Amino acid sequence: MPGAIHAEGLVKTFGDVRALDGVDFDVPEGTVLGLLGPNGAGKTTAVRVLTTLLRPDSGSAFVAGIDVLRKPNEVRRSIGLSGQFAAVDEYLTGRENLQMVGQLYQMSGRAAKARAGELLERFNLADAADRTAKTYSGGMRRRLDLAAALVVSPPVMFMDEPTTGLDPRNRQQLWDVIEDLVAGGTTLLLTTQYLEEADRLAHDICVIDHGKVIARGTSDQLKARTGGERVEVVVHRPDEIEPARSVLTALGKGEVTVVRLSRKLTVPVTGGAKLLAEIIRDLDGHGVEIDDIALRRPTLDDVFLSLTGHAAEVQEQEQEQENEDPEDPEDKEDAR
Ligand SMILES: Nc1ncnc2c1ncn2[C@@H]1O[C@H](COP(=O)(O)OP(=O)(O)OP(=O)(O)O)[C@@H](O)[C@H]1O
Ligand SMILES: [Mg+2]
Repeated sequence: MPGAIHAEGLVKTFGDVRALDGVDFDVPEGTVLGLLGPNGAGKTTAVRVLTTLLRPDSGSAFVAGIDVLRKPNEVRRSIGLSGQFAAVDEYLTGRENLQMVGQLYQMSGRAAKARAGELLERFNLADAADRTAKTYSGGMRRRLDLAAALVVSPPVMFMDEPTTGLDPRNRQQLWDVIEDLVAGGTTLLLTTQYLEEADRLAHDICVIDHGKVIARGTSDQLKARTGGERVEVVVHRPDEIEPARSVLTALGKGEVTVVRLSRKLTVPVTGGAKLLAEIIRDLDGHGVEIDDIALRRPTLDDVFLSLTGHAAEVQEQEQEQENEDPEDPEDKEDAR
């Protein structure tokens, strides 16, 4: 039986861009699917198709057992959506925004008011509740938008990068809210750039790139695929990079990645702290001075790197940044 969210062979093209190129996934009821992928991978497009905002060129999708293409209105009644860009009414206060959503969903005035108060409290917006949303900071808008998606508790929720732009405390609080929701039986599809977030919240993870699913599994399975832990060394001088590379090649379990600009070398390892001590001894034996050394778990970057094999590009990009002309207006554009 298909899960609460089910996508099969979704294709969506925009001109030459295949934003979705045959995407399949299934989210069992009461679980969280984390949709990961670099910018432009197709995450938002997938969310828009599943939430009836966009028609795919081909493929099928079911949400809460309802056919998204045939019965979009019915689907809309069963879902909540918090988009990548906050959709709040700038000219209403935070409280009015939430009450309005409640009334749209036919709650009584009183119930809508109570729910709005509760959510404003929960999302740290109580102090700003009676100011118009246009005076809100980016993080406050984001939180208001998320609160709006939770006014009614639909059985299936979609959140597109819910914590992008939130400070660590608010991110943590949102994670708690999401965990409560899911404990209450909600099915959630969440897109994110943070493996840490997917790690904490998602039962299953789907990595997409160029509109295709390139990996799926639990967070542990994905990390295992990237080769376990990493040792990261920053050497003191550029001419120490090569001797350090030899040491890491000998003791590590895979290719050594080098970022020359920051004199940083990274290698997948197994053997943890004991091996770290051995690496330090060997580097010392080769007269390599260490500025920094650490043993860490794989990050989303490592997962991407190993899945898409773009390690070399990272290096080039860093080098290009070094050569950027500070007077070039395009660089300034990026810095903003
Ligand atoms: N309305 C549109 N018209 C033309 N191209 C589009 C449109 N919407 C999306 N695209 C293209 O489809 C691709 C996927 O976009 P999408 O917004 O789904 O990416 P994303 O994974 O959500 O990225 P991000 O992490 O930046 O939010 C991109 O190449 C994007 O430029
Ligand atoms: Mg997006």
